[in-house]
Amino acid sequence: MSRTDSDLLAEIATAQGTPTYVYSARSLEAATLRWVEAAGDAERIFFAAKANTNLAVLRRLCGTGIGIEVATAGERARAERAGFPADRILLGGVPKSADVVVQGMGSGLGLVVLQAGHEVDAAVSAADPAHPTRIGVRVRPGIRAGAHPSLETGRTDAKFGFEPADVADIWSRLAATGGLEPEVLAVHLGSGIDSLEPWDRALDVLLELADGLAASGVPVREFDLGGGLGVDYSSDVDPDPAALIHGVDRRLLGTGLCSRFEPGRSIMARAGLLLTRVLYRREREGTPALVCDAGFTDFARFALYGAQHRIEAVAGSPAGPPTVDVLGPTCESGDVIGTGRSLHDVQPGDLLVVRDVGAYGFVMASNYNSRPRPAEVMLENGDFRVVRERETLEDLWRGEPTT
Ligand code: LLP
Repeated sequence: MSRTDSDLLAEIATAQGTPTYVYSARSLEAATLRWVEAAGDAERIFFAAKANTNLAVLRRLCGTGIGIEVATAGERARAERAGFPADRILLGGVPKSADVVVQGMGSGLGLVVLQAGHEVDAAVSAADPAHPTRIGVRVRPGIRAGAHPSLETGRTDAKFGFEPADVADIWSRLAATGGLEPEVLAVHLGSGIDSLEPWDRALDVLLELADGLAASGVPVREFDLGGGLGVDYSSDVDPDPAALIHGVDRRLLGTGLCSRFEPGRSIMARAGLLLTRVLYRREREGTPALVCDAGFTDFARFALYGAQHRIEAVAGSPAGPPTVDVLGPTCESGDVIGTGRSLHDVQPGDLLVVRDVGAYGFVMASNYNSRPRPAEVMLENGDFRVVRERETLEDLWRGEPTT
């Protein structure tokens, strides 16, 4: 961390308190540009809003010309609020209520991906021939990929999408319904994938399906290959969307099929860090630990997936052992931010940063223990701006009768 970075982070901590999420506009735009350049066209890229829904983040992403994948009415509302036009919004192939599907019909969305029987029923019943809707069908290809079992979504036993064998019937039903235009086969294999091989295997499944569907008279036009590209949380090496996209393009050459992608983590992870202050040190069976003011309520990825993010002292981390664990302040032993870090000289009151938390950081924060959720700030042009105020105590009981 350079001296100026440390000064700015210290200034943010003083002005806004801790824990605070800090995003870099430049970094999120650079990561987006890597996807756009590799794809040759911003219209092939749809940011997975679930990774980060802060309006200032979404506005920046919108400005790059890419689209957005939303999973819920809330994500859709945020995307619209941030300025994404309907035709750049993709209603994603994740479990949705019938209501969300119905609201998607005829409303000008770029694509609606269906992934369960009740979603198909809802689309068919709400289809409007005067306002046709482009439809995708999510396939469960039976592939294991992802950084953790909870993050594998294409396995045969996953809850998402249709078995390949069921797709032809669904496709025919959609094709026979006025106002529905089935055009896309979709997959999302998992999250945190560190090899390109799973996409290759998914393409085998999708290409075979597309071949079969050609006979239905309503050909598949495009594959939506989801998100999932991993980020190496232990280094500064950026994810490389070019290898993925170019590999897919090569396989689709001559087929007339296009492809699109829904990256979340690989766009936002590196663009965010969590700033936290050490409350005190303690020995746990001989292993020193730092208890800090960010807990698993603010950043859940270690508690949920054992994810080890780099944690550094703002003033500079001493290298080498002895190592310490970094713990949160809540009333559970599972409240851990990371383990085995070279932070042995860090003292109470010092500032730490948890790196690469721009994706699936703030969005998974909770109010457990009635802890107000952190502030979010954006670094822009060498300065910072608050893009979400820290929650207040009043926010905690909003909507509850107070007498
Ligand atoms: N498209 C669909 C349909 C998805 O379900 C997801 C993520 C994405 C795209 C974006 O995937 P990405 O490029 O970010 O890997 N909370 C977890 C991540 C869950 C991701 C769920 N779906 C974590 O903190 O690792």
